[in-house]
Amino acid sequence: LNRVKAHKNSIMLRLRRVLYSESDVQKFQASNPYNVNYTGLYGTQQGGMSKESLLCSLKQRLPFIKTLRKEDVPFKENLSKSLFEDHMLGSGKRYQKCAIVSNAGSLINSKSGYFIDDHDLVLRFNHAPTDGYVEDVGMKTDIRIVNSKVASNPKFEFLSSPRFRNVTILVWDPCSYSSSLKEWLASPEHPFLEPFMKHRKLYPKNKSYILDPRQLWTLYDYLQAHTPVRLRPNPPSSGLLGLALLLPHCNVVNMIEFVPSVRLTQRCHYFEPFMDEHCTFGVWHPLAAEKFLMINMNSASDIKTYQNGYVSIQGFNTLKC
Ligand code: C5P
Repeated sequence: LNRVKAHKNSIMLRLRRVLYSESDVQKFQASNPYNVNYTGLYGTQQGGMSKESLLCSLKQRLPFIKTLRKEDVPFKENLSKSLFEDHMLGSGKRYQKCAIVSNAGSLINSKSGYFIDDHDLVLRFNHAPTDGYVEDVGMKTDIRIVNSKVASNPKFEFLSSPRFRNVTILVWDPCSYSSSLKEWLASPEHPFLEPFMKHRKLYPKNKSYILDPRQLWTLYDYLQAHTPVRLRPNPPSSGLLGLALLLPHCNVVNMIEFVPSVRLTQRCHYFEPFMDEHCTFGVWHPLAAEKFLMINMNSASDIKTYQNGYVSIQGFNTLKC
């Protein structure tokens, strides 16, 4: 227990240092590639609000995550309308327990596989493999959130790898803070539209969606409204997007190794030897603020959070907002 408490303190200290590191914030704000122009209030996250209020406030801003609709997409092909519904998971669909598996290196030796696979719905990110890592990360995969770099760079095999088949896919690409869909579609950050459409043609039965990118900035505004210091002006990470996607559909969402457990490592990903602690504590995405938010929404004990490696967040339907 002492080891867990000491680890918790060191993680909180680390996150706080990143959040408040002024030189970083100035550096990031000097370049503002997405033209972020936040005019709302800054929050008082630390101890300021109960988990229920934080979640109710998110529910109010983002009752569900919107994906592009058929009329939004500039394609002439005859696309199945059902794949462009407002609610990618179906508006009334409910699950008891959902898991979101981060790609963090700290999953190594976690032996979380059984725990993860025991959930009713499991969400993973990008090209994260399960083969060869089942003991630590499980194998059940219902949804993959895929960034536009992974969808467009052939090295990630979006069109050929079985990882991207028989699984609901949500592809995302950031737009500028105030840009319209039309402006964004004319010049997305990565050229994902063509591979996305190819994927649709190759696997017409696969459920594949594109995020309405303005949702990222709604999520960013929410995060800023609950963070006491200015955030770096970049979109939130796909981890926070996954949480916002699942909260309307799950009674509880367990987020695995987002708040780093005692297995914290310098490795960026559990499936690659590449070392970079910024993947965990954040430099580009406002990761430290996201992790504070998750800690403030968490109902799991310290042992579960820092030893077992997950935070538990109550779904919208369980709240009296
Ligand atoms: O690195 P990648 O974007 O593929 O990881 C998916 C998500 O997992 C990230 O958006 C982030 O929220 C989380 N992650 C993390 N710590 C890491 C690596 C990833 O929290 N070391």
